[in-house]
Amino acid sequence: MSTGRIEFSSKFGIIAATVGSAVGLGNIWRFPYEAGTHGGGAFLICYIFFVFLIGVPTICAEFTMGRAGRIGIPGAYRLGHSSRKWDFIGYGGILAAFLILGFYAVVAGWTFEYILESVTGAFRDTTSEIRHAHFEDFISGWRAVCWTILFLLVNAAVSLGGVQKGIERVSNILMPLLFIILIAFCINSLFMPGFGDGVSFLFHPDFSKLTPDVILSALGQAFFSLSLGMGCLITYASYFSDNTPLVKTAGQIAILDTLVAILAGIIIFPAVFSFGMSPAEGPTLVFEVLPGIFNQMPGGSIWSTLFFILLAVASLTSIISVSEIVVAFLSDEIKISRTTATWVLTAVTIVTSTLCSLSFGPLKSTNLFNIFDYVSSNILMPLGGIGVCLFVGWKMKIEDAIGELHQKTGVPMWLVKIILLIIKYVAPICILTVFLAGLL
Ligand code: PFF
Repeated sequence: MSTGRIEFSSKFGIIAATVGSAVGLGNIWRFPYEAGTHGGGAFLICYIFFVFLIGVPTICAEFTMGRAGRIGIPGAYRLGHSSRKWDFIGYGGILAAFLILGFYAVVAGWTFEYILESVTGAFRDTTSEIRHAHFEDFISGWRAVCWTILFLLVNAAVSLGGVQKGIERVSNILMPLLFIILIAFCINSLFMPGFGDGVSFLFHPDFSKLTPDVILSALGQAFFSLSLGMGCLITYASYFSDNTPLVKTAGQIAILDTLVAILAGIIIFPAVFSFGMSPAEGPTLVFEVLPGIFNQMPGGSIWSTLFFILLAVASLTSIISVSEIVVAFLSDEIKISRTTATWVLTAVTIVTSTLCSLSFGPLKSTNLFNIFDYVSSNILMPLGGIGVCLFVGWKMKIEDAIGELHQKTGVPMWLVKIILLIIKYVAPICILTVFLAGLL
């Protein structure tokens, strides 16, 4: 079926763009500190369980909607019927996209500063108190705002290039680069004195640590990391061709995304143990603890520069995908050009992320950064995930779903039946339970 909608031009491009969306700050910044504060191995096992049991079928559900409708959100929620009753789930996704852009761009901006400081050797011979004071001072000021705006302008430049010449081309270059840097770090990790302790912390599960809180955090992390529940993968799938294998692609994203999270753990924990730091440092683990560690390593400023480039690359390919939700919405539904849509989005996001950034300084009382993060990750994404599953499981015609998952790519029917069963019952119930428990 040709709809005239632009499509990704190659299989590699599809994997690079979708994995690029999934692999981001969630894997390299959030996963290690979540695992670090939630007991390592036990958290990892829960996380992997949720990625494959709930995550992969939910990715299939988003892909099914996106490719069947060849439209982003909320249009995909009108598939097979003409009422606008389901549109609100799509608008929830668009709101989530604005909120994520607001806080994600701030952390992404910090990576630019840390690349610069690594290159100039600013961390050399500093104590942890000095680095802490420096980090606090930096994130609360206007310098952080400038980096955030610069990051958003780079994002706009990619978006203006369009799906093939912007998103796909940039992902094709950056994703292999990201994997090369990751592998270089892993090899370096092998030679650290704390390698054994770090790896055993990550892989040795202590089941006494499995509290409801750990389980909830693992599901939330799985959703955030797979870019699920806000229409990002619906939008990307609207650019897939008829012969893109949906189930296989969903599996590949889950495997590569989990691999990067584990590699990030293998990079960070041995370093943490080698230099006598605590893995339970929290969100500042990457920005305060790692520069201290790099400081003590031979060739530290090179490793440090590489690490923050890795973080910047991962953030960019993810933020592009969040922006695409809004750009596709503005051009599909409001019918404005891609260029205008990109500038509208960039202008609004510059305002919101400036406010988020300043909420570490003069606007501290607003707590905006944390509110944006909390509302998008803990409320809108799980609710959106339930919405996607309910729509595909209960509202969409079963023949259409089977057509996308089975007929177009020949995935065995028994597997499609299991996936649909999970989409219909297991995933919504599981997400709802976690959501309610999380709210309480
Ligand atoms: N998956 C990204 C990460 O792990 O950093 C974050 C993200 C991207 C969330 C795109 C949502 C989204 F739509």
